[in-house]
Amino acid sequence: MSRSYFIRTYGCQMNEHDTGRIARLLEADGMTSADAMESADVIVLNTCCIRENADNKLYGQLGHLKRLKQARPDVQIAVAGCLAQKDREMIQERADHVDVVFGTHNVHRAAELIGAAADGPVIEILEAAVEDDRDSFPSALPVRRDAPYAAWMTIQAGCDNSCAFCIVPAVRGAEVSRPMELLVAEAAELAAGGVTEITLLGQNVNSYGRDLQRNRRRAGQPVPLRPLFADLLRSIGGVDGIERIRFTSPHPKDLRSETIDSMAEVPAVCEHLHLPLQSGSSRVLAAMHRGYTAERYLERLRAARAAVDDLAVSTDIIVGFPGETEDDFRQTLLVAAEAEFDSAFTFVYSPRPGTEAAAMADEFCDPDEVRERFERLREVVERSSRRGNQARVGGCEEVVVEGPSKRDPGLLTGRTRQNRLVHFPAAQALKPGTFAAVEVVAAGAHHLRGELAEVTAPPRWRTRIPVAAF
Ligand code: SAH
Ligand code: SF4
Ligand code: F3S
Repeated sequence: MSRSYFIRTYGCQMNEHDTGRIARLLEADGMTSADAMESADVIVLNTCCIRENADNKLYGQLGHLKRLKQARPDVQIAVAGCLAQKDREMIQERADHVDVVFGTHNVHRAAELIGAAADGPVIEILEAAVEDDRDSFPSALPVRRDAPYAAWMTIQAGCDNSCAFCIVPAVRGAEVSRPMELLVAEAAELAAGGVTEITLLGQNVNSYGRDLQRNRRRAGQPVPLRPLFADLLRSIGGVDGIERIRFTSPHPKDLRSETIDSMAEVPAVCEHLHLPLQSGSSRVLAAMHRGYTAERYLERLRAARAAVDDLAVSTDIIVGFPGETEDDFRQTLLVAAEAEFDSAFTFVYSPRPGTEAAAMADEFCDPDEVRERFERLREVVERSSRRGNQARVGGCEEVVVEGPSKRDPGLLTGRTRQNRLVHFPAAQALKPGTFAAVEVVAAGAHHLRGELAEVTAPPRWRTRIPVAAF
């Protein structure tokens, strides 16, 4: 009988994307997917370390698995992902029942490493991704996709910034971009396989290609002066069959007008911008080394909204960065209110060992105060997201069906181009990936309710705007 695997994903979309690739490699090695962790022969924990509770969750899980391993000594346990990359010694010390530890640049070796662990513990951590190495680069590998119509493409690994709170550069290394030709070819391959929606992933997507340009300059080759991310959007937007393009995350300091123009001009690029604010206080932003002020952020946002019709905007905000005063926090509330976010991921600041902000212990905020601020911010964001959703009531939205609603299996859930979720009853079962027009009848803070108007052929914009325009 074939062995079975179970992968638990802790982190962001990049982490989830890596999970899909590990799954595909294990399947290619003859394994099948297990329904539950407890019944699997191979358990992979694909970890994250962006905030402290991600660390704690892993160590809690490892405690639980120790008992499982005592009961079933044949089970193999692998720890992968960002925490593995950062904390390999700690994992070894705290969990001698772990068989394999591998890093974020070793995903392509997952099956071999798990195989080799039959003879004793295996650890493999590569320090950085390699631009033209199709093997070690994320997303160049086959990937198991949970939705047949949607795919992620990692366009850039690592991060060259040094935000004072953030652990990512220490775990994911320097920025390395994948060559545009490879990405466009991959998009075409995906489209040929039935994918209509692609999400481009990177920590700082609008600096995509800077390293490629630097390398070309060094090699004495001609280098275009324009930012390559804008070109990438246009090129992928020209791939026949790709109807929706999303990307995350652009960095506000690098959101150039060329990118905004591409968003406005390429029909497939969705009207949604995830632009992480982090704080509305320019003083705090400077201490974070974010490279923009609150005014500059709002100015970029205005430019994007002026260029892209009906643009939805989401963001990330950290509450309680060391030294954040009540006055700083009020600035965040003001900027959030002015920005009219459609949604926001809000986080309580979490010190990450080794980062600059973690050393500012004497400026850490009072936890009770932070909790209260967090709640006040949530209310402000919820007000604008509810307003944004309510403004859609009475209109008709193009959705792509995701599947049955998680809360009410009698309803279907679809996603609009602006990334809003719409729940609607459907007399007929519609396959995930179906395009449909839905009349919006009601709105909450986090979703819309609708009635199915018609099942549509994929996008009507193709008939309105010829792709040959670029
Ligand atoms: N590269 C992206 C961010 C990736 S991390 C960017 O710069 O926009 C995702 C989010 O996690 C960040 O936007 C930030 O809001 C949050 N985050 C990162 N480090 C954190 C920390 N130490 N404590 C709390 N939130 C954090
Ligand atoms: Fe972290 Fe800043 Fe890089 Fe984003 S841009 S991954 S927050 S260092
Ligand atoms: Fe993602 Fe967490 Fe790593 S947010 S990049 S999995 S630290």
